[in-house]
Amino acid sequence: MKIILFKLLRFIFFLCPGLCLGLEVRQSLSHVIINPEGEVQIFCSHNKTDYRVILWYQRSPGETAMKLIGYLYFKDSTIEDAYKEDFKISGNLGGNEPKNASLKIEGVKRYHSAVYYCAAREAQ
Ligand SMILES: *[C@@H]1O[C@H](CO)[C@@H](O)[C@H](O)[C@H]1NC(C)=O
Ligand SMILES: *[C@@H]1O[C@H](CO)[C@@H](O)[C@H](O)[C@H]1NC(C)=O
Repeated sequence: MKIILFKLLRFIFFLCPGLCLGLEVRQSLSHVIINPEGEVQIFCSHNKTDYRVILWYQRSPGETAMKLIGYLYFKDSTIEDAYKEDFKISGNLGGNEPKNASLKIEGVKRYHSAVYYCAAREAQ
């Protein structure tokens, strides 16, 4: 059986609307190895309670560009067409608690091997 490797990096997201804030966004795993057709769910959390959008990006091996997979806005997920089949984004960014969102793939394929990033920002 082949093994698929995901590398998940901790991503520090800076947003500067007037005042510049450094926000640490924590991802749940540094990497995960799974079998083809397996399921994987990765989490991303932060404590900036008024940042109600979490975005997920994918950087494929050998590429420099980060591609937007989709994002969670409060409880609503929006996923780019190219990723709709494979990815699910969920969580609830309402309320005043620390935030926690997930990216899930059911039926992992080899082409899902990539570095995944998450980022957070305020809802506009
Ligand atoms: C959020 O706060 C909790 C409790 O203070 C802390 O354990 C956790 O590391 C914080 N998370 C981040 C991403 O800073
Ligand atoms: C985020 O939610 C998942 C699933 O409920 C949980 O396992 C994980 O510990 C949560 N992460 C944080 C930082 O609360």
